[in-house]
Amino acid sequence: MEARTGDKRRMGDIGTVLIKNTKVFQISEEDVNSREAEALLEEAGQIVREGGLVAFPTETVYGLGGDGLNADSSRKIYAAKGRPSDNPLIVHIADRSDLTKIVKEIPAKAELLMEAFWPGPLTMIFPKSDIVPDATTGGLDTVAVRFPSDKVAQQLILKGGRYIAAPSANLSGRPSPTKASHVIEDLAGAIDVIIDGGSSTLGLESTIVDVSVEPPMILRPGFITMEMLQEVLGEVTMDRALIDPDSGIKPKAPGMKYRHYAPRAQMVLVEGEAQTVTDKINAFAEEELKDGKKIGVITTEERKEDYPGCQVFSVGSRKNPAEVAAHLYAILREFDESDVDKIYSEVFDEHGIGAAVMNRLMKAAGQQIVHL
Ligand code: TXA
Ligand code: MG
Repeated sequence: MEARTGDKRRMGDIGTVLIKNTKVFQISEEDVNSREAEALLEEAGQIVREGGLVAFPTETVYGLGGDGLNADSSRKIYAAKGRPSDNPLIVHIADRSDLTKIVKEIPAKAELLMEAFWPGPLTMIFPKSDIVPDATTGGLDTVAVRFPSDKVAQQLILKGGRYIAAPSANLSGRPSPTKASHVIEDLAGAIDVIIDGGSSTLGLESTIVDVSVEPPMILRPGFITMEMLQEVLGEVTMDRALIDPDSGIKPKAPGMKYRHYAPRAQMVLVEGEAQTVTDKINAFAEEELKDGKKIGVITTEERKEDYPGCQVFSVGSRKNPAEVAAHLYAILREFDESDVDKIYSEVFDEHGIGAAVMNRLMKAAGQQIVHL
């Protein structure tokens, strides 16, 4: 199977449809300042201000937005996702000066990170101010804040009261949505509006950094890599629970303890020299195919012809790690629609964005990995 290309909305693709009582607004980033788009975003913003829920595109994944300063809106978000309420939400802003109202202090290092990476795929943890309800932060006295670069997201935030709490717009336990169709699958009928802005450019959730501790600590790897953060800050650490997932240490980002991003079929990663990995996966598969099982394989363009008898899913070329990151979740979702009994996946170099790709793959596999 070919790696999917993005289906970014093109200019002029503005419109609305109704699916199971959820309005779907189609708005491309290029059209965001058109009169039609503005009217739709105004309507969506008003729904947020009045306590409703609007799913929207960002450069990472789609978010499920509600008014972050309204406890009832946050409770509705948890209910729509089926998410445990001890797992806090990220508050999204679209103007740096709005940060002061929701945090107690802004450490100097946070200023440096904002300068370097906002707007963009970086979330920071701050001590929260009293205005942020416990329902939004899962009872924590800190708040996670992100300023997305996606223009549709920015306009919705500004029109929706300037503080939009948004987890990824998937049902709890499913891979994060990177297209509006994924959000429709999971949440149509359960929320007021879905804004369809085409495929997410990056495809993995933002990097989370706790700037309330010294040295700052990465709680979730993403596009802003350890190397990029160190270049700005000097020393940066990684939550030990991420380095050593079998240690039993509790992750500092509550959401990282759940086995999400998980396809329904059992998944196993296989690591080693390229040809040895392919041979081993084929050897495993041969036994299982004999028993009448259906086997899925996650591979790349380079080796997609090398797994006869298996359902092969290519995440893109190994030469383009960003493409691999962008396609991963759509492929994990496709496994749920297919009837495979077991999935084997090749592994990826943990350099740069590869660290985030491997973090998500390991979680999808429930940490099951075969080292050759
Ligand atoms: O890219 C993203 O960050 C996307 C888009 C929509 O912005 N959002 C997203 O949200 O991935 P969510 O809810 O799926 O993941 C948020 C993560 C969870 O693991 C949560 O536990 C953690 O952030 N988190 C939120 N507030 C926190 C806090 N105060 N301290 C530690 N971790 C926190
Ligand atoms: Mg999520």
